[in-house]
Amino acid sequence: MQIPPKIIVLTGTPGVGKTVVAKALASKLNAQYISLGNIVKEENLVLEVDEARDTIVVDLKKLSKRIKEILGKSMGCVVIEGHYAPDVVPESFAPYIFVLRRELGKLKAEFEARGYDERKISENLASEMLDVCLVNAVGKHGLERVDEIDVTDMRVKDVVDEILKALDGRKSFKIGVVDWFSKLEEDGRLDEILALLEKF
Ligand SMILES: Nc1ncnc2c1ncn2[C@@H]1O[C@H](COP(=O)(O)OP(=O)(O)OP(=O)(O)O)[C@@H](O)[C@H]1O
Ligand SMILES: [Mg+2]
Repeated sequence: MQIPPKIIVLTGTPGVGKTVVAKALASKLNAQYISLGNIVKEENLVLEVDEARDTIVVDLKKLSKRIKEILGKSMGCVVIEGHYAPDVVPESFAPYIFVLRRELGKLKAEFEARGYDERKISENLASEMLDVCLVNAVGKHGLERVDEIDVTDMRVKDVVDEILKALDGRKSFKIGVVDWFSKLEEDGRLDEILALLEKF
């Protein structure tokens, strides 16, 4: 009988570091690395291109089917990353889900460096501020399978170590570790970020 693979999911707002952390983690664990973004591109699993939002609408139904197929054949350990990963990895595979969080100022700088327009920056900052990925992950897979990590001042290596600690049981899974509203207020940046969101 085939042993079910151990599935590790990394999710979070664009720019939090899913790709770099997932690659480092997969290499450390000798695990299979799966990027949902790459599969979507390679297999053209796109429903439509939303020009106004400068984004694509992914065919989640087809992507879920593909992921189920891939995981069905996988053995050992698999690291899957993508901000819609909790939507396409079935609950029945009992994935361990890590939601990476990154402070809004750093994210904004990342988006500017990527050349995102104002609307795309606002939309993504709003998503981080409102815990969209976290709420979605917990909604789909339950509190006990989700761990939230504030990666803001962490090196990639340290994020990988945090994930390994949680997987080994040296640390319990925990959510509620960030509060961006209070942090922005403390840093005197709340008005600046809210003004950005108003444009969105
Ligand atoms: N812990 C970290 N320390 C320093 N830089 C980091 C860290 N994590 C990510 N980065 C840098 O931040 C940028 C964004 O990381 P990455 O591309 O992995 O994000 P992502 O979550 O995969 O984004 P997307 O959803 O758009 O694919 C990269 O330039 C990466 O090198
Ligand atoms: Mg990425």
